[in-house]
Amino acid sequence: MKRTHTCGELRQNHVGARVKLAGWIETIRDHGGLCFLDLRDREGITQVVLDPQNASYAKDLAMLRPESVIGVDGVVQSRPANTVNSKINTGAIEVACEHLTIFNIADVLPFPLDEKTDRVSEDLRLTYRYLDLRRPKHLEALKKRHRAATSVRNYLNSNGFIEIETPMLFKSTPEGAREFLVPSRLNPGSFYALTQSPQQYKQMLMVAGLERYYSLARCFRDEDLRADRQPEFTQIDLEASFIDREDIYALVEGMLKRVWKDVIDVDVPTPFPRMPFQEAMDRYGVDKPDTRFGLEIHDFSSVFKASGFKVFSETIANGGVVKAFNAKGLADLTQGELKGLEDVAKSLGAKGLAFIRIQSGEWKSPLSKFFSEGEKAALTQALDMQDGDMVFFAAAPWEKACAILGRIRLESAELLQKRGKLSVPSNQYNFLWVIDFPLMTYDEEAGRYVATHHPFTSPVQEDQHLLDSDPKKVRGQHYDIVLNGVELGGGSIRIHSPSLQKKVFEDVLKIPADVVETRFGYMLKAFTFGAPPHGGIALGLDRLVSILCGTRSIRDVIAFPKNQKGQEMMSQSPSPVTEKQLKDLFIKTI
Ligand code: AMO
Ligand code: AMP
Repeated sequence: MKRTHTCGELRQNHVGARVKLAGWIETIRDHGGLCFLDLRDREGITQVVLDPQNASYAKDLAMLRPESVIGVDGVVQSRPANTVNSKINTGAIEVACEHLTIFNIADVLPFPLDEKTDRVSEDLRLTYRYLDLRRPKHLEALKKRHRAATSVRNYLNSNGFIEIETPMLFKSTPEGAREFLVPSRLNPGSFYALTQSPQQYKQMLMVAGLERYYSLARCFRDEDLRADRQPEFTQIDLEASFIDREDIYALVEGMLKRVWKDVIDVDVPTPFPRMPFQEAMDRYGVDKPDTRFGLEIHDFSSVFKASGFKVFSETIANGGVVKAFNAKGLADLTQGELKGLEDVAKSLGAKGLAFIRIQSGEWKSPLSKFFSEGEKAALTQALDMQDGDMVFFAAAPWEKACAILGRIRLESAELLQKRGKLSVPSNQYNFLWVIDFPLMTYDEEAGRYVATHHPFTSPVQEDQHLLDSDPKKVRGQHYDIVLNGVELGGGSIRIHSPSLQKKVFEDVLKIPADVVETRFGYMLKAFTFGAPPHGGIALGLDRLVSILCGTRSIRDVIAFPKNQKGQEMMSQSPSPVTEKQLKDLFIKTI
């Protein structure tokens, strides 16, 4: 039996036609005289009427169970007016089945496929992912993902980019995230690394003269997983020659505008606002601010320099800062919630989370007795403190104070949303470029500078002379594209001079010359044979699609994601291998 229509296709104008449909039984209802079933395929649902008197299939009816796959051969008829279902496209008609084909009878499922499925444990759903994916929510997500990828391709194709695949078996370059290693049977004792990103290959394509490249590239990072992180994920990766930062901004703005229009029919205004890294940290406490709501952070270091509250004045004397923000309307925070926030702050290295709660016109805080009238007035004015408000403080080195209040700000926003006191609409899209990042960040643990983005990022021209004398003041030609508090993508204009690249590796990042040679020697050499100025960016496709779908977890928009422990539950990977396999790879386990 071959189908003539999909289950989403038939309308009133098909009444009287003989049709063949195929699909899964969504529901089956026996009404004594007649049996109704909803037949589902990728495109929709059609009601089918089965007649228990029909000799050709009467004896088969008892076998039918939800999720069985069948074919129906019958005639389209109008539904009686009182049974029309306006919720589905095919709700005005039904198909009276004359011949039934049974392709596959389904056993009782491990969980029902309905709105309650979300309450089933995620591991169980991922074990039976092929069932989970039958739900409209996931089907819709995968369709949106496809539309987004198609839109990206169309846009880049029409802007002179060509799609090129680069290797996934690459070499280990432990400068970035932790890598997955792959042993090489043909080269005993040697390993490939799965690419963290096609960064070095795409730069080589520019040296090769390809000028405009893109790829929907699979990337692999052995990181601890979170809602927006998977060990394998997809980047919209692109690189172009003879361009500057402005060109990349315009290109990416055009691309995202097109994707939002194509996929969810939303007009995104361009150009996107830009914010320097320093300002993002100061006002929002993170380099990926969610600007859909205020609750902005203020600096009170000058106010508390000589404060009677020693925690504050001493922190400032030691080079730290005192910052605060007003979680407007959160004075009704419970003890449990407050404890939760304190724990979050402490997990980020805070010594405490000082607060002022304003209730019945009074400042209820263990701190207020330490504050002078001048300090109180400065706080009240800058933070617009009113009855019902809750103010949080962090006294710490600048970066830590920003990070602590940045997180507490987000947690407070959640609590305020739950109380209906703040609205953060998920269908509002606040795109933002974060720019002017420092080229290097000092890594306390390693005792040296590390690249903020990656070591191929070009310094801002006018800061280059500071590379030796004051590297932390050098800004990188790096940009991040941020959406609603999510880092959607990042990129940079690259170094194309072999001597500058060598200097960054050896003098600034302090990578020993022989290590530079073995890891990056080919790249430095390539730059001696005619390298164009170039730059690019990579956007996380999974993150982009999850925002388009209004979901927080990128697992919802990946067909077969890994769970929190990096396991793919359906096929049960990773899994042990045999001694023989290991031996062939020259690997001994301990
Ligand atoms: P970066 O490391 O910033 O840049 O990655 C770019 C974007 O990829 C997405 N992303 C992830 N998505 C899901 N799971 C992960 N584990 C994960 N890690 C990163 C994010 C991020 O913004 N080669 C450079 C780009 C360049 O300079 O052109 C790079 O990979 O959305
Ligand atoms: P203490 O004097 O240590 O009892 O602290 C008084 C209040 O300040 C408590 O609410 C602490 O949680 C808070 N606190 C202590 N250290 C800091 C800090 N570095 N930043 C913000 N609040 C702090």
